[in-house]
Amino acid sequence: MAPSPFIIVAIDGGAASGKSSSSRTLSERFHLLHVDTGSYYRAITAELLRLGLRADDRPAVQAALAGLQLGTRLNGRSAELTIGGRVAGDEIRSREVNDQVSHFAALPELRAALLAYQRGLPAVGRQHQFRGVVMEGRDIGSVIFPDADCRFFLHADPVERERRRAGQGLQDQIRERDRIDSSRQASPLTCPAGATSIDTTLATREEVVAQMAAAIAARLPPA
Ligand code: CDP
Repeated sequence: MAPSPFIIVAIDGGAASGKSSSSRTLSERFHLLHVDTGSYYRAITAELLRLGLRADDRPAVQAALAGLQLGTRLNGRSAELTIGGRVAGDEIRSREVNDQVSHFAALPELRAALLAYQRGLPAVGRQHQFRGVVMEGRDIGSVIFPDADCRFFLHADPVERERRRAGQGLQDQIRERDRIDSSRQASPLTCPAGATSIDTTLATREEVVAQMAAAIAARLPPA
């Protein structure tokens, strides 16, 4: 395939599979706009919880979503989601958000609210002279950008992933979130056909990044 002047890199995978660290490294190495879509689902969940809503009250969630003003703020190489002009803080990593985010993220209306927004982010990258976008999440290569230039699916043994989270000082319901994310009807977490599947259980970060970087370099025109 011919090199592309602006590339889209999709990285999907479960919790602590290595998405964030590799996305950030690739963003820096290739000057790609970094998009952490998990933080978007977390920020919207935090906002809905703040409004006192529960994921099983779908009409109320839908009404609240219609009233949210979503925007984008650049922070270095990262595209941050703003809600009502404000970027969410540490509350998106709270225990409550962690426990609730997969329930809210399973709602088709919430996913629909973020679909067009996410598809608009390459335009932001182009406008700010990035060479492309690296977007991490659960459904980027399957639903948001099925025609992305590079699609990766990272996975690792759950015991190793729990060890990584504990090493970050975090308690996380990894298996429970994986179960909900993989079994939901709307955009389930899955390795899309044609994506490069990488097992990160025993690989070093450098090895994982090197494999991805080689594929990305082949798609980019020389700097
Ligand atoms: O903490 P971790 O990196 O595992 O998760 P995250 O990327 O912050 O995403 C938090 C949650 O958001 C996931 O468990 C999914 O329920 C949801 N999510 C999603 O449904 N689709 C995405 N593209 C990204 C995240």
